[in-house]
Amino acid sequence: MFRSLMWVQGPSGHDEESLLRTRNAPLTKHADQMARLQRFMIIVLTLLSSVTILPIIETSLQSLWAKTSTPSTFSQMPPLYGAYHDHELEVSRQNGDPQGAKYLYFANHARGFGWGYNMQELLLHAYVAYRTNRTFVWYNYTWNDDGSKWTLYNNQPIPSRIPLSAILDGPAVGASVFTDAGAAQPVGIVEEHFYNICPESTRKKILNEDMIATLGREPTADTIVNEWVKVLSGANDKCVEVPRDALPVFDIRTTFSPARLLDVWPGYSTSPLLREFRWSPLVELAFETNLALVAPSLASASTSNHTPQSLPTPADSSPMLSASRYTQIPGLLVLHARRGDFQKHCENLARLSLGFNGFNSLPELPDRFEITEADEAERVKRYRPRCFQNIAEIVARAERAHVEETYGRGRALRDLHVMTNGPTPWVEELKGALRETGHWSSVTSSRDLVVNVEQRYVKQAVDMLIGQRAQVFVGNGVRVIRLALSAACHTVD
Ligand SMILES: *[C@@H]1O[C@H](CO)[C@@H](O)[C@H](O)[C@H]1NC(C)=O
Ligand SMILES: *[C@@H]1O[C@H](CO)[C@@H](O)[C@H](O)[C@H]1NC(C)=O
Repeated sequence: MFRSLMWVQGPSGHDEESLLRTRNAPLTKHADQMARLQRFMIIVLTLLSSVTILPIIETSLQSLWAKTSTPSTFSQMPPLYGAYHDHELEVSRQNGDPQGAKYLYFANHARGFGWGYNMQELLLHAYVAYRTNRTFVWYNYTWNDDGSKWTLYNNQPIPSRIPLSAILDGPAVGASVFTDAGAAQPVGIVEEHFYNICPESTRKKILNEDMIATLGREPTADTIVNEWVKVLSGANDKCVEVPRDALPVFDIRTTFSPARLLDVWPGYSTSPLLREFRWSPLVELAFETNLALVAPSLASASTSNHTPQSLPTPADSSPMLSASRYTQIPGLLVLHARRGDFQKHCENLARLSLGFNGFNSLPELPDRFEITEADEAERVKRYRPRCFQNIAEIVARAERAHVEETYGRGRALRDLHVMTNGPTPWVEELKGALRETGHWSSVTSSRDLVVNVEQRYVKQAVDMLIGQRAQVFVGNGVRVIRLALSAACHTVD
């Protein structure tokens, strides 16, 4: 019952075909594309823990400097992505404020959370705006909005905010929707432009508390969305804001509970938010830069039909479905092995008997996880191999993927990439053990990626894109419920 890792597998048999299907892809709801889209979301959601999710004790760098006055401790401060912010303002201004446009701004968006959680919340916020026919007001990825430029994290400075367009592209950051002519126009504007169009006095404030009063404490995600649609369809107010101090609309108890989250999937996954999702040019460029490193077999596959043109390039900004843009890289296996402080979290998950997080529990996915009835000590023992694998277990799981793909489906895996935050010596040991099997032409890890200074702080998205395009992605459904854990802690007693 307890297999070593969750295994999310791509759709079969379409490698070459899909690699060649590029810019003029039909907009039909292709089953293959949908499967890929679904896989993308699974990867996104499986990687929620790629960066630390729980708010870490933060120290504003400025206040630190005030205390220590030794600013020269850091040789180079992280970039602030000013050009991206300017671009967002410019694009939003160009959209103006068309007659009849109505706006929806979730000022209560998360702050101080890892990228994965933010991304999940952001896309669901954008989905609510889409469903209510309102222009979505997007916001910075905000680690800290105390006005500081940088925040210390693990004793290193990180940007306090990153403009979203440095990480994402697509409708969530205002790119015109092309799969639904009825979508709101403009589809999105940045928050500062919203402040201009909608001065404070003109904003109708809606508290999520009022919704909760109607829906009860544990509505499903789809019920929440439908309630917003109902409430806002009767609202003529041009400017609607969910105030900063309102309770989150999609709190961790919703997004990390399969029973409550999964019903939103059919509508959400077929909405332009996901179908037209794309990564920023910055992230795509990092991917392109590292492609030959991560998937050398593809680069050297002289007997295949792959051509440089078959891989979308960052310069290509033509409208394209996400599933067509991010085609599968044949022969690539990607494993996600989160380390660091994760061990104790795995034990906590077992103590609380939590299952796979949210979308990882979609019934069509392989490698399901059954919550065991055993006593606590036994649970901790049984969760561990699904949550915090040792090197031997990871090697064995890769071997299983190798055998199943090569002999079961005739699609050999050649290149292996490990997404990990593990310490370098551990990662090197793991890579060595994987190489020793003799089954891999190349073994790389997140630590090997070559990124420039702007890409460094959005590197988790680069890893996500690599995982998204793998032939086989092996994640770990347990680890993503880290946030659910903190929620559960509050409700346990
Ligand atoms: C968003 O981030 C940019 C770049 O750091 C910053 O200039 C801008 O003030 C931020 N916007 C808000 C509303 O915090
Ligand atoms: C959104 O627009 C569609 C038509 O484009 C309409 O059928 C629907 O009722 C609208 N929804 C809301 C919440 O206004």
